[in-house]
Amino acid sequence: MKQVKKSIKPMVTRLQQWDEQAALEEAESAAFAKELGDFDPAFANMFKPVPGERYFTALDCVSGRDPFGLMTRPLKNPTGVLITFEGNDGAGKTTAIEKVYERLKKDGADVILTREPGGSRIAEKIRDLLLDVNNTMDPKTEALLYAASRREHLVSTILPALKKNQIVLCDRYLDSSLAYQGEGRNLGLKEIEELNDFGLEGFRPDLTLFFALDPKTEAKRMKQRGDLNRLDQEGMEFHQKVRDGFEKLLKQYPERIVAIDASKSKEEVQKEATDIVLKFLDLSVDLPMPIDFHVVNGLLED
Ligand code: TYD
Repeated sequence: MKQVKKSIKPMVTRLQQWDEQAALEEAESAAFAKELGDFDPAFANMFKPVPGERYFTALDCVSGRDPFGLMTRPLKNPTGVLITFEGNDGAGKTTAIEKVYERLKKDGADVILTREPGGSRIAEKIRDLLLDVNNTMDPKTEALLYAASRREHLVSTILPALKKNQIVLCDRYLDSSLAYQGEGRNLGLKEIEELNDFGLEGFRPDLTLFFALDPKTEAKRMKQRGDLNRLDQEGMEFHQKVRDGFEKLLKQYPERIVAIDASKSKEEVQKEATDIVLKFLDLSVDLPMPIDFHVVNGLLED
């Protein structure tokens, strides 16, 4: 494994450079579309940039996920990095996310730590409703409330931070709804994804750490923890289904989700999480292509 870089200070500058480059590519693409349009209007539509879509982002290229910069994704905000932490309850992700946050801060990164449900004024109010043990709730109401809190969190906390080119570490995000409501509550992964996308408009994290824990260990840890919320109080069968849901997502999105064995010691889990995040953010890797390469809607030009 590549040596993890000790400091990520140069990262923000490099990200900015790449984003400036991406903006240039878009402008060139637009000019190219116009040129073609003068020749034949039908061509112009083929090459016209789609508003709000980027042809590649810095991390797609640098992380090697999209070495040729051909991937497009609906991303209203191209800068910054969103990293989510997911998993069953008691998997140690909350402690791990705090450690990663402290480490990045120490390294001088511009980073924020947030959570779901919650992370903004209104979303925190929805959180209270969702986790209150005195509430009983229809499963679809529950799914809608998680989706509503996520939309609010996205627009009032996550996107503004990404606009400022910050690194956003988020304790749970969409995958939790897919696993808990989609699989755990039997509402269906596809249905929950569609429901959430009304609010998310396709916005996804750059990287997701999945803290994998078997439901038996989970139950043991939750018992030790005490003070259980409404979802924690569900039985073993529910938590097994949630776990199955996360496994399905891991298989479905291997380019985005990385699994960590959360049955290991707290220290080991924290170290692994920190190493993965640092490696992901480490821009000291060789750039996969010359910076002046032209990417035009999936076509590469010299
Ligand atoms: P929290 O106390 O934040 O739990 P944890 O420390 O395990 O993250 O409570 C959040 C609970 O809400 C947790 O049991 C998982 C559940 N949840 C969902 O069911 N759907 C979702 O979309 C999210 C974000 C969380």
